[in-house]
Amino acid sequence: MGYSGSTMEKQTSSPGPMLPASSPLPSRRQSRARRFIFGGFALIAASYLAASHFDAFPDTTPLWQPDHQERFKAGCVQPDPIFPSKDEELDKLQDFIATEAFRNASIARLSGAVQVKSESFDDLGAIGEDPRWDVFYDFQSYLKTAFPLIHEKLLVETVNSHGLLYTWKGTDESLKPSLLMAHQDTVPVPPETISAWTYPPCGAYDGRYIWGRGASDCKNLLIAELEAIELLLEANFQPKRTVLLSFGFDEECSGKQGAQQLSTFIHQRYGDDGLAVIVDEGSGYQEAWGSRFFLPGTAEKGYTDIFITVRMPGGHSSVPPPHTSIGVLSELITTIEANQGYPTRLDDENPYYSQLQCGAAYSPDFPKKLKKLLAHRKSSSSAHKCKAKPDHLALEAAKQNPYTRYLMQTSQAVDVITGGIKINALPERVTVTVNHRINIGETTQVVRDRLTGLAGKIAHKYNLTLHAFDGKEEASSIILTETNDVLETAPVTPTDASVDGPYKVFAGTTRAVYSKDVIVSPGIMTGNTDTRYYWALTKHIFRFDPGYDPEDPSDGFENGIHTVNERVSVAGHINAVKWLTTWVRNMDEAKF
Ligand SMILES: *[C@@H]1O[C@H](CO)[C@@H](O)[C@H](O)[C@H]1NC(C)=O
Ligand SMILES: *[C@@H]1O[C@H](CO)[C@@H](O)[C@H](O)[C@H]1NC(C)=O
Repeated sequence: MGYSGSTMEKQTSSPGPMLPASSPLPSRRQSRARRFIFGGFALIAASYLAASHFDAFPDTTPLWQPDHQERFKAGCVQPDPIFPSKDEELDKLQDFIATEAFRNASIARLSGAVQVKSESFDDLGAIGEDPRWDVFYDFQSYLKTAFPLIHEKLLVETVNSHGLLYTWKGTDESLKPSLLMAHQDTVPVPPETISAWTYPPCGAYDGRYIWGRGASDCKNLLIAELEAIELLLEANFQPKRTVLLSFGFDEECSGKQGAQQLSTFIHQRYGDDGLAVIVDEGSGYQEAWGSRFFLPGTAEKGYTDIFITVRMPGGHSSVPPPHTSIGVLSELITTIEANQGYPTRLDDENPYYSQLQCGAAYSPDFPKKLKKLLAHRKSSSSAHKCKAKPDHLALEAAKQNPYTRYLMQTSQAVDVITGGIKINALPERVTVTVNHRINIGETTQVVRDRLTGLAGKIAHKYNLTLHAFDGKEEASSIILTETNDVLETAPVTPTDASVDGPYKVFAGTTRAVYSKDVIVSPGIMTGNTDTRYYWALTKHIFRFDPGYDPEDPSDGFENGIHTVNERVSVAGHINAVKWLTTWVRNMDEAKF
């Protein structure tokens, strides 16, 4: 996961242990009285009476509503498990994946891939000039050795020297290709941290996990995808639908050399909406409300960094003005942080809304108060979009744990500050950078507008000129500028499993591989993956880590991505291969 992805994302995309709501429920009578007073029309009065009648049955929803449970289920359809049609040779392949021979070979392949270092850095120079890019030649030749059939039978193209595109041509040109993605690069291991690793970060296997940089972000996925394809080739599978694999090589530092160029290349060949579906790295498994969830990322928050600079006259510290530029900027920062910034709001398109419906429909420990708020929320209501009105459902949901809020809110973090040079000189220029992740249903304009307003007030108070995003600056001013890497929220993947489409196949595949007791629900990514460059190619993007190990308590949490002790469970990895072969076969049989 990229610059905006990190261990933090793993946590934010996984609400984790569900805490009880921190504020006590208002008493039934109180809340009913409130409804009565503000409602003021017959239906509400009727509900008041009906609800009184229900005091003997405290867990039942009011009579006047249709069966909420059915409505929640309709908002979270779980398709039956989907198995590929019978085929003797291919079914043997599924059995082979479960053998010790495959396990051993898979350990060797993944461990080998981790051993070939392929770090990317924020300050890399041009390809061909900066020798640090050359590691990707080594990684490519490793793949060639590890996957001989793929390199013999598939079309392998390189894009911008190190980007890899594999094409397995299908027999039916009318079917849009399905694409599997991953990235070859990893974040670096700072040398001073090596001693803190339980095993050195280079592919050690301890009987259960493979340890090392890239083991779970995301050489595991890249290798699992190639293993799945190699196995299918061994079993003489001939796809009807073209299968593509694309592997970028600078995902951890923006994806501009890798994914961006690959996507341009693929777009030239297949055009707008030219692909049926994309699977890339992302979120995976999560326990919540007493249920087991699989949560493919079907939306991504947006992203922008804003730089705020205050310029004021310099001079000697012995004759200072009442406020230096540092003081003025501090006041602005305090204002920005007051009232926690942006509203907590759950858009109807936000996958977390779907997850709440899934929880309400199927989870034994789903909080009653949340369920009630969900039941009373009008679907496709725009009330919550109205800025003046608090979104009670979102606010209640946010109480579950400190991270949940950011699934439904634009986040801001003042992360970098520079200014001041000398203790006897007034600072002439001081700058902060504020990082933002944009809520589903909002745009980066919300951030620019809010900061322009707040900075304007401070500028007025201190008689400074405001230059908000106009590219100008002058002495005695507050200047707002923005990073070049602005990213709006991703288009939301359609996720109605009651209609035939990629999501139904996705959910059916997952329930086939992992059991029909699991719930598949849309999930939201607070970080971004290489798919940010692929939006034009398909509406159907799943950011998903298909490898899950039911025996691994740390799964999805303490797997050390971007830090010490990165590791991956081999059992989980094998399951990823199983999922991927099933997915490719299921998509091959799909008619859309
Ligand atoms: C798998 O590897 C283990 C440990 O090296 C070895 O004992 C076992 O015989 C191997 N199994 C197969 C089927 O190769
Ligand atoms: C505000 O700044 C302008 C120009 O920088 C200056 O001419 C003016 O006197 C200032 N006003 C106050 C109240 O300090």
